[in-house]
Amino acid sequence: MSLLLGVNIDHVATLRQARYALNPDAPILEPSVLEAAREAQAGGADSITVHVREDRRHMQDHDARLIRREIDLPLNLELANTPEMIAFACDLKPDFACLVPEKREEVTTEGGLDVVGHFDSLKESIPKLQNAGIKVSLFIDPETDQIQAASDLGAEMIELHTGKFALTTGNEHLAELERLKVGADFGNQIGIQVNAGHGIHLENLKGIFSVKNLIELNIGHTLISRSIFIGLRSAVAEMRSAMNHYQTS
Ligand code: PXP
Repeated sequence: MSLLLGVNIDHVATLRQARYALNPDAPILEPSVLEAAREAQAGGADSITVHVREDRRHMQDHDARLIRREIDLPLNLELANTPEMIAFACDLKPDFACLVPEKREEVTTEGGLDVVGHFDSLKESIPKLQNAGIKVSLFIDPETDQIQAASDLGAEMIELHTGKFALTTGNEHLAELERLKVGADFGNQIGIQVNAGHGIHLENLKGIFSVKNLIELNIGHTLISRSIFIGLRSAVAEMRSAMNHYQTS
């Protein structure tokens, strides 16, 4: 099976809100997140990701509901682990819910969700999502204790945070790549699905290819950036085709 591509279209909402946050009743609100999801699908996206933040700074509740209703692709909702957001997810019923940190105090040293530190509250939230038929993913750093904690909590998936890999160079970059490889292998060994995301683009994709046992990449920023010049459908198709060279083992 080829590496799946989850397309994060948050930045489409970011651009719309930059103009219309204070005028949500304007006759035309652009760019349309629904059209973006359709273009991503036409380009070969395997799923659509939206992050509805607690402060609703980008995606709005109705964006997520519209995409859920109109787009015939799995929906991955990124959300904070708060009672309000968990209730929203249980009502929306996306296919996947990826719990992400939104506040500094929820973050590990590198920036993933601190699953070890928030074990007890996640132990309450995760079954609520699963009982609503939603598969749960946790966005974490490639650290063995965090991966083990995600598995102990019964999460179906982890998404390894590739942000540090994407932002560093030289030895630091190589060390981070090694951590991703070890983390992905460990996750695979203990039987949890391993995805990855953050900061991935066509240039660093080759490095990601050396990380085995990955099922899905979640990619947003570079696709929306490329779409300014070549359109979203083509940007997604370009990434989709580059990802076809991945070998899982
Ligand atoms: N995965 C998660 C959990 C994210 O929050 C994001 C967006 O910040 C991404 C992946 C995609 O990252 P990027 O936009 O850098 O491709």
